Amino acid sequence: MTAGPGLFIAFEGGEGAGKSTQIQHLAQWLQGQGHRVVTTREPGGTLIGSAIRSLLLDPATGEMDPRTEALLYAADRAEHVASVIRPALSSGATVISDRFVDSSLAYQGAGRILDRDEVEQLSRWASKELTPDLTVILDIDPRLGLARLSGADRLESLAVDFHDRVRQGFVDLAQRAPHRYAVIDASLPEVEVRAAVVAAVDAMLQQRAAESATS
Ligand SMILES: Nc1ncnc2c1ncn2[C@@H]1O[C@H](COP(=O)(O)OP(=O)(O)OP(=O)(O)O)[C@@H](O)[C@H]1O
Ligand SMILES: [Mg+2]
Repeated sequence: MTAGPGLFIAFEGGEGAGKSTQIQHLAQWLQGQGHRVVTTREPGGTLIGSAIRSLLLDPATGEMDPRTEALLYAADRAEHVASVIRPALSSGATVISDRFVDSSLAYQGAGRILDRDEVEQLSRWASKELTPDLTVILDIDPRLGLARLSGADRLESLAVDFHDRVRQGFVDLAQRAPHRYAVIDASLPEVEVRAAVVAAVDAMLQQRAAESATS
């Protein structure tokens, strides 16, 4: 279920794929089209979320039970959806989130410890079934993505085959509902990725406009 009247766009993809870079470009492009844009991120789009983010990503946290981790991500998401995303969508803003439900599914699924359907149920419950109008997946070989980044946090320092499974997880999610996804080759130069992102968002906007004209 979407929370309209605003548009909700999520960016997903591995570390160093270019999410932050492209979100900034897209926000500018949308503003140029007259949209009021709210950019946010998971984990950590709220005060409570920032505290959860520190716990999750700080290397000093060390080992964490997978269920604890899943619940912390879900808690962050519940707060984020209730206090940032839904109010912004209700006010008519276009919301761009750096990561959303699919990151939980791809990362926790790649860990092969938790059942993906259970993680999905937990996420859907936490977000009260909020689904992005469009999810942009920046698809990249994790070796290239990780090489773009200088530092390494707790998740980034995991083995590269884990990141290969994460990458496959994102692509699998897109294949389940292709009309709600744009999978973009993020190894391309920044300007080309940018053009592909704008084309995908523009196509969605035009489709929406056509739908509302006929309804
Ligand atoms: N298409 C591109 N080609 C080459 N370098 C890029 C490209 N897009 C982004 N970069 C560079 O790669 C680095 C990582 O980009 P960015 O921070 O946008 O990725 P991210 O997906 O947000 O990473 P993180 O997972 O750490 O949040 C930055 O230094 C950025 O300038
Ligand atoms: Mg980023």
